[in-house]
Amino acid sequence: MYKVTPTELGKKVDFKLPDPAFFEALGEEGIRALMYDFYDIIYESDIASFFPQDHEEFNEVKEKNTKFFIQLCGGPKYYEDISQGTNLNDYMIKIHDDFSIYEKSRLEWLGAMKEALSKIDIAKELKDDFWNYVEAFSKLTVNTKVDGVKYYHDL
Ligand code: HEM
Repeated sequence: MYKVTPTELGKKVDFKLPDPAFFEALGEEGIRALMYDFYDIIYESDIASFFPQDHEEFNEVKEKNTKFFIQLCGGPKYYEDISQGTNLNDYMIKIHDDFSIYEKSRLEWLGAMKEALSKIDIAKELKDDFWNYVEAFSKLTVNTKVDGVKYYHDL
């Protein structure tokens, strides 16, 4: 549970979208609660400086992130007005390209997700399945090497 493997820039990342049973177990409100808690943890984390410091702006990102995850997990397509027909995976990589995300930042992000997930009460298999998605997909958000060189991913 909560295994993390290192990102190898340039290596193809295989990932599988979360099992619809995750959405069925949590429901829309359960996913919202999970994502709000996750972002509250992010706000206190070492990657807080990546995000808007203004509370209202931060809440907007929190809400967009929640809409994304509800859609991704098989719920209503709340994020479609934001991604505007672009493939969700491509859109996510593009959004993160505006930031210099290091492997260390990914590990901090995953640490916050682990903390939030560990508090919810659903079957371990469903958490593992969701974790496998974030663990793998987060590799595609890593775009900066320690020497500062930027890296652009293809799917
Ligand atoms: C599974 C991996 C990840 C997913 C699915 C994900 C998803 C998202 C989503 C949905 C948004 C909101 C985009 C919008 O504005 O519509 C977002 C924004 C953002 N994410 Fe991620 N994220 C992931 C990993 C990471 C990691 C590892 C970092 C590391 C720092 C990160 C940093 C950010 C930042 C800085 C923003 C934008 C904040 C702003 O708009 O000012 N994300 N992410």
